[in-house]
Amino acid sequence: MSLNPVEHPVLNAIADRWSPYRFEPRVVESEKLGQCFEAARWAASSYNEQPWSFLLSRRENSDSFQRMLMCLMEANQTWAEQAGALVLTVINTRFKRGGKPNRVALHDLGQASAHFALQATALGLQVHQMGGVNLSKIRHEYEIPEGYEPQTALAVGYPDLSEPVGKSAEELKERESGPRVRLPVHEIVFGDKWGSSAKFGDSEEAS
Ligand SMILES: Cc1cc2nc3c(=O)[nH]c(=O)nc-3n(C[C@H](O)[C@H](O)[C@H](O)COP(=O)(O)O)c2cc1C
Repeated sequence: MSLNPVEHPVLNAIADRWSPYRFEPRVVESEKLGQCFEAARWAASSYNEQPWSFLLSRRENSDSFQRMLMCLMEANQTWAEQAGALVLTVINTRFKRGGKPNRVALHDLGQASAHFALQATALGLQVHQMGGVNLSKIRHEYEIPEGYEPQTALAVGYPDLSEPVGKSAEELKERESGPRVRLPVHEIVFGDKWGSSAKFGDSEEAS
C-alpha cells in the first residue's frame, strides 16, 4: 500500500516519498548517494545548461557534517542532525554561453532535486528538502563564487519509523501520522480557460 493517497496510479517512488522529521542516525551508503546524484544529473534543463551544483557532507565525517548543519536555520538543525547526509544546492544564475540571466535555473534545480528525492525513495531512503538555510553563511563558508547562488538544503537518510517518545512526541505524531494532503487534480489543472478544470478518465467520460 502506498503512503500517499493518489487519485491516479503513479510510480511507486512518487507514492512513497515523504519528508521525515526523524531519521535513524546512521550513515548512508556511498553507492546510494552516488545513485541519487546520478538521478539528479539526468534531470532535464533549459538548453541542457544543468545550472545546478551540490555540496555534500556525510554523517561519518563529523566535522564536515557539523559545518554544514550549522548552515541550516536552527529549527531545521534540531531534526536534520540525525540525517545520514546533508546536501546544499547551488544554481548558476547565468547561461554559460552568452552570460545572459537564466530565468529558469531555479526551476531546473527543483527538477534535479525531485529526481534526487525520488531515487532516494526507490532506494529505501527519504529526503527532507529545506528552504530554511542561512544563505550568506553558506556563501562565506563554502566560498561560493560570484554568479552562483546557494538555494536549499537536503537532508538524506533512513527514516526513523519507531514510535516517537519524549517531550515533542505528541507534536511529532501529529506531523507524521496526520493526513497527507494535496490539492485535488481538478483544482490545479485547467483546460480551455483559467479556473475551468481539465477532465481525466471517468470524469471525462461522464461529462
Ligand atoms: C523547496 C522546499 C523547501 C522546504 N523547506 C523546508 C524547511 O525549511 N523546513 C522544513 O521542515 N520543511 C521544509 N520543506 C518540506 C515541506 O514542508 C514538505 O515537502 C511539504 O510539507 C510536503 O510534505 P511531504 O514532502 O512529506 O510530502 C521544504 C520543501 C521544499 C520542496
